[in-house]
Amino acid sequence: MSLDLINEARRQIEICNACRYCEGYCSVFPAINRQRAFADGDVTQLANLCHNCRGCYYACQFTEPHEFALNLPKALAEVRAESWERFARPAPFAALFQRAGVAIGAVLVAGIAVLFLALQALRPENGEGFYAYLSHAAMVSIFAPAFIAPLAIVALGLRDYWREVGGTAIRLPHLRAALGDVARLKNLSGGQGQGCNFEKGDRFSNARRHAHQATLWGFLLCFASTSSGTILHYGFGMEAPYGFFSLPKLLGVPGGILLTLGCIGLAVLKTKADRDLGAPKLWGGEMAFVMLLGLTGFTGLLLYAATGTGAVPALLAIHLGTVLALFLLIPYSKMVHGFYRLAALIRDAQIRGAA
Ligand code: HEM
Ligand code: SF4
Ligand code: SF4
Repeated sequence: MSLDLINEARRQIEICNACRYCEGYCSVFPAINRQRAFADGDVTQLANLCHNCRGCYYACQFTEPHEFALNLPKALAEVRAESWERFARPAPFAALFQRAGVAIGAVLVAGIAVLFLALQALRPENGEGFYAYLSHAAMVSIFAPAFIAPLAIVALGLRDYWREVGGTAIRLPHLRAALGDVARLKNLSGGQGQGCNFEKGDRFSNARRHAHQATLWGFLLCFASTSSGTILHYGFGMEAPYGFFSLPKLLGVPGGILLTLGCIGLAVLKTKADRDLGAPKLWGGEMAFVMLLGLTGFTGLLLYAATGTGAVPALLAIHLGTVLALFLLIPYSKMVHGFYRLAALIRDAQIRGAA
């Protein structure tokens, strides 16, 4: 644990607790105001609860050149990122991705794509659609462990997080409250629904919230599409390729479009925002994650559009390369934010319920 980062965040939190001007902005300030002293675990919890909307920075009268030098969004972003790195296994992998995310993402996608192209040389003797290039057995034996192992690593990290922040048994009302906050992305709405100050400085905008919702729902639709394909395959013996009016396509095509557009929006907004109100050293790794996620949606759509053409083998290799790289990087990339932020919202609901 980096005590320097925790102590700096604690110093700022204590000033906010005396000031209380930003009370209505997000869940962080009511959480601060409920306490007098802040243990290291409390700071970790507050950092993961913060949505980096930046409203408190632009409202604050104690930012530089004031001697208090308040920059709460940055202090919390740095503690948050350090906590994700600390909870990852092996932790140095996460640090590496933060520093060289674009290069690692690109090498991984290219490497895996080449591997899939090579695998296609061992074409199955029979098989339709994509299975004409890569057998179903080969796909499952590669993707099942590549999906389960990263999730197991995240689960271990979440267990450490839960211990550090003093979490207790999760009850349905806590989960419901937290999921409600995620669905509305309440903490990016600036308290009154006017939006956040991410890319427009002291003016408000809902652009990031909307782009995030497109990304989140797009991702969930793509996930549901893949799951429905698996159920059709194993449960009903219906094999891919599926027609347009089938569940995998009806969920996957809008999902891919939303995911691609959402990620383009988030990447553009990221280039406009002040890097010094987040964790500047992580900017590259965060951008790599947004690009990898967007590329997953986009290559999926391209592959569908290319059905029946000679471009399928190469596009299939690239699409499977991006999906596999995204999965393998879950514990080390910003993908973990969803898990830890959900955990922080559940813990906040627990504390509010107990208060
Ligand atoms: C529990 C659910 C989730 C919550 C509460 C959540 C919250 C947030 C917040 C507050 C941000 C902006 C602040 C920041 O940059 O850290 C963000 C960024 C982002 N989220 Fe989520 N998220 C969730 C799930 C997801 C999922 C499932 C995806 C897609 C797989 C996703 C994709 C993104 C992307 C691409 C960014 C932009 C990253 C950047 O600009 O650096 N989120 N999320
Ligand atoms: S961010 Fe500044 S204005 Fe807001 S509560 Fe903290 S010290 Fe007060
Ligand atoms: S940046 Fe936004 S979410 Fe984070 S503490 Fe400030 S007002 Fe709350």
